[in-house]
Amino acid sequence: MEMVKLLLVLVMALELMVGSVEGHLRPNFYQSNCPNVESIVKEAVRKKLNQTVVTIPATLRLFFHDCFVEGCDASVMIASPRDDAEKDAHDNISLAGDGFDTVIKAKQAVEVQCPGVVSCADILAIAARDVVVLSGGPSFTVELGRRDGVISQAGRVTDNLPGPDFDLDQLTSIFAKNNLTVRDMIALSGAHTVGFSHCDRFANRLYGPAGADPTLDPEYASALMKACPRDVDPTIAVNIDLYTPITFDNVFYKNLMRGMGLFSSDEVLFTDERSRPVVRRFAKDQSSFFKAFAAAMVRLGRLGAKTGEQGEIRRDCTAFNN
Ligand code: HEM
Repeated sequence: MEMVKLLLVLVMALELMVGSVEGHLRPNFYQSNCPNVESIVKEAVRKKLNQTVVTIPATLRLFFHDCFVEGCDASVMIASPRDDAEKDAHDNISLAGDGFDTVIKAKQAVEVQCPGVVSCADILAIAARDVVVLSGGPSFTVELGRRDGVISQAGRVTDNLPGPDFDLDQLTSIFAKNNLTVRDMIALSGAHTVGFSHCDRFANRLYGPAGADPTLDPEYASALMKACPRDVDPTIAVNIDLYTPITFDNVFYKNLMRGMGLFSSDEVLFTDERSRPVVRRFAKDQSSFFKAFAAAMVRLGRLGAKTGEQGEIRRDCTAFNN
């Protein structure tokens, strides 16, 4: 009996040690030093959303791009005088400024009540959940306790973000590298139910050597050609979800089923028979999409989290403390 007790104590001590080394995120991380953090962030996000609806897609995409490079540590927020930070990388140039501004505003509001306590990484994670909820999507509990990263280099973005021409194997492998399953990937792609894309990201599907991509619905293809003629102004963008571009719903998957996925990396989720059943399911049953999306966002939010003594709590989200 004594032996069993001793073993139990040992196991508990080991768990504590591992816990402090690995560090774990938890929902109530700021309970004692900033108990209102979530309501402060939500209020700031709501205010920003009242100014522009772009707040929704911009913040959600910013979170994804943050997490896939160096982990969810707000490294994407850093502004470098030499234009060589993550945000300057080719794949990140199109991140809309309103996403950055949402986090900056929320951080300012949080600092008033709890100076120096809450990381920009956590604020971004909360804001990403809030924009989903405010546009009609599922709510979920955000795990907290991330610290802000101290590395942000444009060169480290290359190869770590998926491209709009990826096929299912490429998508699967880049998400797997980030501990995310195919189902997580299909659910997270559903974020394309909101927001815009610049014409150059899908123009090759319209003006290929053999004409438009045959997996595109022909009417949709010609509407896209009108919106995005050859050599169009590079600032022109179109809605990714043609029907409900500012509502977080499952219409994205219905679009895939009618050949109206804007990126081939989205359409392939339906044309490839390995992922088709999940697309069908999400198109038919919004609540099953919502459940999968919420769970995948929590898993996405765990990527490369810095805890304990790692990283820092940035004062200004766009600059390292020193
Ligand atoms: C699966 C692989 C993915 C690919 C290949 C991809 C690619 C793209 C591309 C090319 C754009 C257009 C950018 C522009 O021209 O401005 C875009 C926009 C967007 N992406 Fe993704 N993405 C992927 C996954 C995700 C995930 C996982 C999320 C979030 C959870 C996300 C959220 C968004 C949002 C919200 C927009 C609209 C941005 C805006 O309107 O400012 N994407 N994505």
